[in-house]
Amino acid sequence: MRRTTLTQFLVEQQRSARAIKPELRLLIEVVGRACKAIAVNVGKGALANMLGSAGTENVQGEVQKKLDVISNEILMEANEWGGHLAGMASEEMETIHEIPNRYPKGEYLLLFDPLDGSSNIDVNVSIGTIFSVLKSGDELGQVTEKSFLLPGTSQVAAGYAVYGPTTLLVLTVGTGVYCFTLDREMGSWVLTQSNMKIPHDTQEFAINMSNMRHWESPVRKYVDELLLGETGPREKNFNMRWVASMVADVHRILTRGGIFMYPRDARTPDVPGKLRLMYEANPMSFIVEQAGGAATNGHERILEVRPHKLHERISVILGSKNEVERVTSYHRAAL
Ligand code: AHG
Ligand code: MN
Ligand code: MN
Repeated sequence: MRRTTLTQFLVEQQRSARAIKPELRLLIEVVGRACKAIAVNVGKGALANMLGSAGTENVQGEVQKKLDVISNEILMEANEWGGHLAGMASEEMETIHEIPNRYPKGEYLLLFDPLDGSSNIDVNVSIGTIFSVLKSGDELGQVTEKSFLLPGTSQVAAGYAVYGPTTLLVLTVGTGVYCFTLDREMGSWVLTQSNMKIPHDTQEFAINMSNMRHWESPVRKYVDELLLGETGPREKNFNMRWVASMVADVHRILTRGGIFMYPRDARTPDVPGKLRLMYEANPMSFIVEQAGGAATNGHERILEVRPHKLHERISVILGSKNEVERVTSYHRAAL
């Protein structure tokens, strides 16, 4: 059987599909390489003192785990010198990182959540990396935080890695969604699923139920109906799954359908949700839409939301199209 590696896939996307430029190909290869390095560190766990807290907090007031910090450094170092980027931004860095003048600069902006699902690190449950690539509208080399504040529709690539029983890289450059599995012996990403599609209907939902008493009424109404099962208005039983790593929950949905929700919460009325727009919600929404699913914040398409700040948060409802549309319609009806 002929195996297609990530490199071959990207060359084909560049040559035949003309979907990407050589610089974007290089960028994605570098991110893929960095994810391999993160996977190696994740895999060492307690043997190399990788577990536990780093003893610091990020700009969002969250305690940083050692692997949050290490993964951020790996991505930064890997991407700084290649000449394909104008700047980077990360969940773990307060502000943007401009490419230093000693290196050539490119036209792309890279945003990442270096380690998603941090609460699962110490309990050996799947975690991941999420990334988003934007094209800078500014003159080469002139980037500010404002340069990054583009809607998700401006993304030219997005992806995530899952460090689970197998290590996966899921990628879109706007021509569908492709999944690569890391061949650990060869050290290469091998294409294992083409054109992933999310079924429009599902019987599986993912939400942190412990927050139920804080949800807004449209989300409560929707979940209440699911819980009533086949004798309720939906006339079928629903199953629930919540990994608490967005990468793992989204990957399950890409594989067999489902709906994922992290809605806003009455405890913090000024904060529109927990997840971050620029490096969690946008890349995942791009991937989900490319796989035939939908992603909204209850009111509008996430990809069309205009960001106002780098670490902006947003409500996330994504996955199987018909379910996402139903929850969104409940939000509209409540206005
Ligand atoms: P991160 O580890 O990058 O901060 O992200 C964690 C996110 C996301 O992966 C997950 O869906 C959600 O937080 C889980 O939140 P709860 O612990 O509130 O369930
Ligand atoms: Mn995250
Ligand atoms: Mn993170």
